[in-house]
Amino acid sequence: MTLALCRVIDLPKISDPRGNLTFIEGGRQIPFDIQRVYYLYDVPGGAERGGHAHKGLTQLIVAMSGSFDVVLDDGGRRQRFHLNRSYQGLLVCPMIWRELDNFSSGSVCMVLASNLYDEEDYYRNYDDFMHAVKQR
Ligand code: TYD
Repeated sequence: MTLALCRVIDLPKISDPRGNLTFIEGGRQIPFDIQRVYYLYDVPGGAERGGHAHKGLTQLIVAMSGSFDVVLDDGGRRQRFHLNRSYQGLLVCPMIWRELDNFSSGSVCMVLASNLYDEEDYYRNYDDFMHAVKQR
């Protein structure tokens, strides 16, 4: 997959003086059905997460609170995204290496995923990922 297919999706935002509301429906605002939700929180300053690619998984990454950066790499090009809005999500396609860093204090990173957790779906070694990219 190429980095060009990854993009920031603007999610619906129902503005209200009582507080804003955003919703995400599988297959509607995002191009996959949601099978799993996980979130990163209590991330210490300077920590890095990610450092892997997925063979078949599609994900949407949302900064629910605070901010952080996501670096995406398709084997040919790298791009850094700064996420800091709870009404935006970064769509990450399969076969994209990702690294997350620059977490602000108290930030929460929510990830919607198209499949259940499967360790077999991971490339955790960058050289293995690059080898697989070149095979395609
Ligand atoms: P990992 O995917 O490496 O985290 P990161 O978001 O930093 O890339 O997962 C960290 C650990 O948590 C690893 O042992 C696998 C486990 N894990 C699950 O059991 N279920 C999940 O849905 C996820 C995302 C991770």
